[in-house]
Amino acid sequence: METMSRTALVTGSAQGIGRAIAERLISDGHDVVLLDVADHVHRTAKEIRAAESLQVDVRDLEALRAAIHGAARDHGSLGILVNTAGTCGRESFEDLSPEAWHRDLDTNLTATAFACQAAVFPHMREQGWGRLVNIASVSGKVGGIGPVDADGSGGRSGAAYVSAKAGAINLTRWIARQVGHWGITCNAVAPGPIASPMAAGGEYGVDDQPIPRFGTAAEVAGAVSYLVSPGSDYTTGTCLHVDGGRVPA
Ligand SMILES: NC(=O)c1ccc[n+]([C@@H]2O[C@H](COP(=O)([O-])OP(=O)(O)OC[C@H]3O[C@@H](n4cnc5c(N)ncnc54)[C@H](O)[C@@H]3O)[C@@H](O)[C@H]2O)c1
Repeated sequence: METMSRTALVTGSAQGIGRAIAERLISDGHDVVLLDVADHVHRTAKEIRAAESLQVDVRDLEALRAAIHGAARDHGSLGILVNTAGTCGRESFEDLSPEAWHRDLDTNLTATAFACQAAVFPHMREQGWGRLVNIASVSGKVGGIGPVDADGSGGRSGAAYVSAKAGAINLTRWIARQVGHWGITCNAVAPGPIASPMAAGGEYGVDDQPIPRFGTAAEVAGAVSYLVSPGSDYTTGTCLHVDGGRVPA
């Protein structure tokens, strides 16, 4: 099927993996709207020649909805949504607070659900085409990667984060079953250890992986590029690992 809309919105795109995804989609020929809570999203947009930049906290669901509807209106349509915004607490189980729990659930999971909803209704459903991609994590498959100390402070991604990413993977399957009738696909990408600000300084044991190195943000962006391209038109509800073979799919 031919791509119906060249407009893409990427959350969490001021830096790191989201920025690399935005750059890749621009080089693939899409008009890309950046959305991030950080004010350097505007600088990033200038650097990579994005179509627009929006400073929004995805946990503010009304602002998130308004941003998605506004982008679709201003650019004539919305064909692609990539949910990349994420936070990763690393506190021990004993130190986990309700505030830390809600921060990671709200950012990684709740915002993903409502961003997909706003992109589908009405935009993707009315145009009969859409590509939703949710950036999860292999931590959501295996309960976190990284070292575990006796006191639980080994730097492994935290309980809230892994729960949110596991939820995002199953949310992706659920949405895929709903929207496939309407020409819309919904897929997840699960990165392993990627060299980015989020993973900086972490001890992830990459030497024991089949591909014994950190991945790059551009390698995650390559998976997203595939999942929004015509080559993936029959692929939905899946979770594509970009992890050097660390976690069996
Ligand atoms: N780096 C890794 O090793 C790794 C591994 C697996 C999954 N991931 C996932 O990839 C995604 C990108 O991670 P990254 O490594 O580039 O991290 P990062 O911290 O460099 O980037 C995250 C971006 O999300 C933005 N963000 C955070 N909270 C937000 C909010 N409430 N509203 C709007 N924007 C918000 C940040 O400002 C930042 O620009 C995340 O979802 C992360 O969980 C990363």
